[in-house]
Amino acid sequence: MIPSFLSIDTATRHVSLDASNPEFYNNPNAAYAALHAHCPTFYWEQQKQWFFTGYDHVNALLRDRRFGRQILHIASREELGLPEPDQHVANFDLAERYSLLELEPPEHTRLRTLVNRAFVSRHVEKMKPELTELATRLIDDFEKKGEVELLSAFADIIPVTMIARMIGIPEEMGPQLLKWSHAYIRMYLFGRTREDEDGADKASKEFSDYVKGMIAERRANPRDDLLTHMIHTEHKGQYLTEDELVSTTIVLLNAGHEATVHQIGNSVRVILESDYNPAELFKDEATTERTIEETLRICAPVHIFQRWALEDVEVDGISFKRGDKVSLILAAANLDPAKFSDPLVFKPARSEAANLSFGAGIHFCIGAPLARLELNVVLPILFERLPGLKIAGTPAIKDVYHFHGLDRLDLRW
Ligand code: HEM
Repeated sequence: MIPSFLSIDTATRHVSLDASNPEFYNNPNAAYAALHAHCPTFYWEQQKQWFFTGYDHVNALLRDRRFGRQILHIASREELGLPEPDQHVANFDLAERYSLLELEPPEHTRLRTLVNRAFVSRHVEKMKPELTELATRLIDDFEKKGEVELLSAFADIIPVTMIARMIGIPEEMGPQLLKWSHAYIRMYLFGRTREDEDGADKASKEFSDYVKGMIAERRANPRDDLLTHMIHTEHKGQYLTEDELVSTTIVLLNAGHEATVHQIGNSVRVILESDYNPAELFKDEATTERTIEETLRICAPVHIFQRWALEDVEVDGISFKRGDKVSLILAAANLDPAKFSDPLVFKPARSEAANLSFGAGIHFCIGAPLARLELNVVLPILFERLPGLKIAGTPAIKDVYHFHGLDRLDLRW
């Protein structure tokens, strides 16, 4: 069935869809199911770009070296007909300049190698006791009340506290980091306004100045934290420059909590809206892991990532020129009926393809072991401590596409 807010012309593969329509962003999965049925590769008229939803296409494109996150390393703006950068977002551009997400090899390889060690599973696993302690302490604060708004009292706090501790930023900075990060990521929204851009630029300047202060502090007083490690490690005789350190710290802090906050809310909602008994879902580590992966599949927090075509290339019968952009809808690939039986149904026991919520290829989420640990540790604690947990009001979904998360999740027990 094609939802009324979606119009598909299968002959031209053109799709008209208003991303700001609440019917769509409240339940994007219904639109993805229709796109799978009628037009999995499509030209989105409002976005003026080609989009892919098929699992095999998205998976292959994420790994395809003919596409990249960066284009200006191989061609000039003039050659590509791109406008000059906007001066009013110069601070944001500088903060993004060396973000892992915006680089391609060899720069990407060098930066990623320098930080990767901190994020591998065996290192991240060591954080389990403090994660358990933090989740337990937060629940202690609201357990007796019999009700809670989960985002503000739990989900917002855990990921930012953990990533700040890892990097070596004082925990009291948590609320300020959240403010900067929320303003910053408005640059990634569909249909952002000038106000969003000005807010993001101001946040970038303040965030960068703060990080520069922390770098100076750690140069003077090294500690056992990721920031000190990034300052002092070398790769093939080279150290990170000040701008690289700032960009890397900011991308880790932002990416390190935004998606995980959303996913704590999304996972709890999916579980409570299902007919499953949480005690069964979280019976042991294996069932917990399967449950979390299934919530990541069916309700991913970040739906779209883009790539530039680095050369002329044809995919699924569509010709792209060097410098064209394509979009990959990871959340839709997770619902491809060719890979998943009853794709719109939450089935934690399924053992089918791996979800693509953390991407694939060289940009595969560096924080995936940390995000998975956070979800696998704090959700069982939440459900075990609050038996009889229920949704107390219609969950409020954020009015932004392509991040998919909740503004509020009111619960009672
Ligand atoms: C549920 C939580 C999360 C989800 C769904 C998620 C998703 C993703 C995805 C899909 C990508 C690949 C983007 C692309 O291919 O263009 C990515 C990259 C990245 N993520 Fe995550 N992420 C999550 C949590 C985290 C955490 C906790 C961190 C903390 C460090 C983090 C840091 C990063 C970084 C630095 C990159 C860029 C990696 C690179 O380009 O080499 N993410 N994430």
